[in-house]
Amino acid sequence: MALTIGVPRETDSGEARVALIPDVADRLLATVDDLEVRVEEGAGHGAYHTDADYEAAGCAVVGRDEAFDADLVTKVAPPSDDEVERLGDGQVLIGFLSPLERPETARALAEQGVTTLAMELVPRISRAQKLDALSAMSSIGGYRAAILAAERLPKFFPLLTTAAGTVRPARVLVLGAGVAGLQAIATAKRLGAKVFGYDIREPTREEVESLGASFVELEVDIEADQDESGYAEQVEKEKQERQPELLKPHLADADVVISTALIPGKPAPLLINENAVAAMDPGSVIVDLAAPNGGNCALTETGEEIAGHDVQILGPTNLPAQMPVHASELYAKTVTAMIEEGLDDGTFAPDFEDQIFAESCLTRDGEVRNERVRGLLEPVEEDKA
Ligand code: NAI
Repeated sequence: MALTIGVPRETDSGEARVALIPDVADRLLATVDDLEVRVEEGAGHGAYHTDADYEAAGCAVVGRDEAFDADLVTKVAPPSDDEVERLGDGQVLIGFLSPLERPETARALAEQGVTTLAMELVPRISRAQKLDALSAMSSIGGYRAAILAAERLPKFFPLLTTAAGTVRPARVLVLGAGVAGLQAIATAKRLGAKVFGYDIREPTREEVESLGASFVELEVDIEADQDESGYAEQVEKEKQERQPELLKPHLADADVVISTALIPGKPAPLLINENAVAAMDPGSVIVDLAAPNGGNCALTETGEEIAGHDVQILGPTNLPAQMPVHASELYAKTVTAMIEEGLDDGTFAPDFEDQIFAESCLTRDGEVRNERVRGLLEPVEEDKA
């Protein structure tokens, strides 16, 4: 065989996704000569794909050892210690690797001699759009967050006129209008809520408004004692520093807050302090998508659902896994797009000079290649010396 691809079963609790689905494997097998796809027994179970479905698509259903014994192994979640040990010299691993959150895993993979390509590090350039797993998953996260909020809110989302009276629509405020935030806005809007969006980046206003939501403008009142450009700068600085306080009245008016504000690799900014939670109506819902990075809300507990001042605060860590069918399908497409991009004459031989592979490569030739991740590891190295 010129190329073997291994698809192990995911073992993280709550991880129902699989890195390759039968349909996508079928297409890959049809386009690449001399390819063998080894899928671990039960790998597709959580996403409703049986071993027989994989066999029908032309894959070999194998045990765990064989699934890791492949030129290229593809996974969804970052590898566990046991999985790192199963990989070795000359193998390629493609998957989410949480490089900035788990630099030690990167070091362990480098020490094992594994070439790793992190889906999180795929550059956001137009040529790499079909490889953008992060956006695909964020879109699912945003959708799911709105559905979850609608399910938990003890009120209707839409305006309702009934014989017993009229119910006003729920007010949904979405913080952070990136991929997840915009999908949450679109979904809440379709469910009939009155939707508001806020982002620190002013250009997002247009996108928020194009979805039929209102953009929240933070009001600051400072002395106009500078020239115009200096004044604008001062206003922006002031807005950033006083975000939680300036957002408070908008939060108090909301029945649902979906927060998605984040700058990759940094702790999530605090946007919702305890006073703001206390000012919300009892029964209101906060879905904090930034929970894995500490949360945008001061009371968020990562992975938990709590009640604070009678407000339901949800800190989910893996909403895409709650929609494993589409999440696996979209993920599989991004992974195969990466594989196809790196194919050369039937073998996987990516050009590491190409921006896509230069940036997404986390480890290679025994070294951690990503500078930010190396920076996170270096202090530890110095301590050891
Ligand atoms: P993105 O990078 O496309 O969007 C983040 C947005 O937050 C940007 O528009 C940015 O300008 C904005 N932002 C940053 N700092 C801000 C601040 N201080 N105030 C207001 N806005 C601010 O990211 P994407 O893909 O939309 O994902 C957002 C977050 O949701 C990420 O942390 C992602 O990991 C997370 N996520 C979590 C899921 C879960 O299950 N918990 C599921 C899917 C995504």
